[in-house]
Amino acid sequence: MTALKARVVEVVRETADAHSLVLEPVEGDRERFAYRPGQFLTVRVPAEGGWAARCYSLCSSPLTDDRPKVTVKRVAGGLGSNWICDNVTAGDVLEVLRPAGTFTPPSLEEDLLLVAGGSGITPVMSILKSCLAGGSAKVALLYANRDERSVIFADELRELTERHPDRLTVVHLLESVQGLPTAAAVLSLAGPYAGRPAYVCGPEIFMDLVSETLTGLGARVHAERFFSLEGDPFEGPEDAPEQAEAEDGDAGEIEVEMDGETRTVPWRGSERLLDALLRAGVDAPFSCREGSCSACACVALEGEVTLDANTVLDEQDLADGLILACQARPVTDRLKITYDG
Ligand code: FES
Repeated sequence: MTALKARVVEVVRETADAHSLVLEPVEGDRERFAYRPGQFLTVRVPAEGGWAARCYSLCSSPLTDDRPKVTVKRVAGGLGSNWICDNVTAGDVLEVLRPAGTFTPPSLEEDLLLVAGGSGITPVMSILKSCLAGGSAKVALLYANRDERSVIFADELRELTERHPDRLTVVHLLESVQGLPTAAAVLSLAGPYAGRPAYVCGPEIFMDLVSETLTGLGARVHAERFFSLEGDPFEGPEDAPEQAEAEDGDAGEIEVEMDGETRTVPWRGSERLLDALLRAGVDAPFSCREGSCSACACVALEGEVTLDANTVLDEQDLADGLILACQARPVTDRLKITYDG
């Protein structure tokens, strides 16, 4: 079984429509709950006639917070967010997938520009706290909201700014004061930091505006985009191994590094990489299985694959060797990958 269980130990009302869930992985699942700053959790939520899955970013830092915490903001008509905000209370146990995602800086020592719109602050907060606690980098945050009351983590940000006046700069952009964000506003507020890698998360239209503006200034922009999952990734093809057994093709092999361990597993003909790993008992992360979330991303160190679909890795990611395990099919007989990079 790939799912983990986590008990909700506290529900924090951050704003009128945003709740944070403080989680405690159940005994036996703690190690598999390890996460990097900026990653997300896939949560199983009830849906009409069955189950669905939704992704929520961790706002906690693995360096400073004892327990993982996700923040969920209501979306009009949103299946998962409304169910969580209306029903989940302390003591409930949620089913989740391993923390995953590539919206995470490779180093905590590099100065960063963080840009968040509304609940997009969630993964950005995790990165920000981790950088301040675990590195010496300077961090600039541009944070856009409708008005002052919709600012999530306002007190925590104020405290962090007071504690790290030389390293943290927070600039608020409020629609109620400055109007809707414009390219000119982004240029003037974030432009001075455009030499730094930029991590951007928020509503689609806001991310497009910021990404275009910063890319125009030559910044390397990492964007975290969320979407609704179509299927139920908690029910995976690894539950039906006989299908893979029946497939043709020569056996290849995959050497996989994960959590500091290396093992080699077989790879059959046209099977997708993630399915081969899960079938062999490798605890590989995933979420959408559709090539659109990057939860399954790993780095190919040797060998070659083709990707059936990819709407999430950009050219630079691919040039860095990142591949999507849920979409990768073998080109070479042997592949060496790592999840530890
Ligand atoms: S699991 Fe989402 S891209 Fe592979």
